[in-house]
Amino acid sequence: MNRLLKALLCHSVFGAWLRRLPFAQRLYARIVWSRRMNLMFGVFDSFGEAEAFAAGFGKVGWNDAALAKVLVEGTRPAASPAPPKVLQTSQFAVMLWLMKLLHSRGTVTDLGGAGGGFYELCVQYGLLDRLTRWHVVDMPEVVKRGNERHRALGSSKISFGTDLKAAPRADILLALGSLQCMADPLGERGPGILEGVRASSDVVLINKVPLIDGDDVWTAQNYLSSASPYRLFNRRKFFAYFERHGYRVVDRWAVPELAIEIPFHPERVMTELEGFCFMHDSAIADGSLTSRRPSRSAKPATARRLHCQQKARQSLLHLGP
Ligand SMILES: C[S@@+](CC[C@H](N)C(=O)[O-])C[C@H]1O[C@@H](n2cnc3c(N)ncnc32)[C@H](O)[C@@H]1O
Repeated sequence: MNRLLKALLCHSVFGAWLRRLPFAQRLYARIVWSRRMNLMFGVFDSFGEAEAFAAGFGKVGWNDAALAKVLVEGTRPAASPAPPKVLQTSQFAVMLWLMKLLHSRGTVTDLGGAGGGFYELCVQYGLLDRLTRWHVVDMPEVVKRGNERHRALGSSKISFGTDLKAAPRADILLALGSLQCMADPLGERGPGILEGVRASSDVVLINKVPLIDGDDVWTAQNYLSSASPYRLFNRRKFFAYFERHGYRVVDRWAVPELAIEIPFHPERVMTELEGFCFMHDSAIADGSLTSRRPSRSAKPATARRLHCQQKARQSLLHLGP
């Protein structure tokens, strides 16, 4: 979408005004949205409504061979050891926490980890020497491609699967830009991600997630070969889910490299997404996380100290509730 059109439709009152003209929206959806990668369209009250809208244009969902190829290989030739083209700023925050936590040994489950691109990035930065296993859970087509790629690369520590319940117990659960794509990640209609694991992870690292103060809404994101619902989470509900399972936020960061722009809905513009480090109460209490800290002389990270760190970071980042 060219910049002027984007500014008019996504950021100005003109875009909101055009919403009154259903034919303008239909025209835009057919001519622009359905023919471009990564664009968002519409605001819906449920995953099902967004899915039904997307179905009117073709294939729906992430389990798609063409999309899997783009996700896993990008524009790289197959099995090229070259790193992913663009390093997203917020990935450094996740890497920092992995660096702090994976200094002895550890296992990771990467939910929605596509072809293991983030694993490759961490290898490139030398973060995974002590890692025992990195298990990606994703859709079948993506897993097939990911497996092929890492077999060709000779990666020794990564494995793939399509079922979170069958994933090995992980010290750290990652969900990087993936929760908003899922039908029921917070277990509102069945098992959510935390009910879907064999045993609780000590740490859940979430990155690139859109949180809003109003009610949950879904939009539809197009990937050319397929389109999928994409959720903007109600902030309170999102935190309540993790808190109910015994997790506390110990760190949060802004994701300035990603934005939400939905044509005809300037009121939904988000200039950044968010990232979080959740730790389980039991891991904080028994010191199992602190025992993985590199410095033996460092004081144990008590819940109180973590709370203070969180408060300090909130005020620094202006992200506090
Ligand atoms: C936007 S991509 C993020 C990929 C990667 N984590 C990153 O940070 O670039 C979302 C990923 O979630 C996966 N995904 C979507 N729904 C899923 C589900 N129900 N279970 C597992 N993975 C899913 C998609 O196939 C895709 O790989």
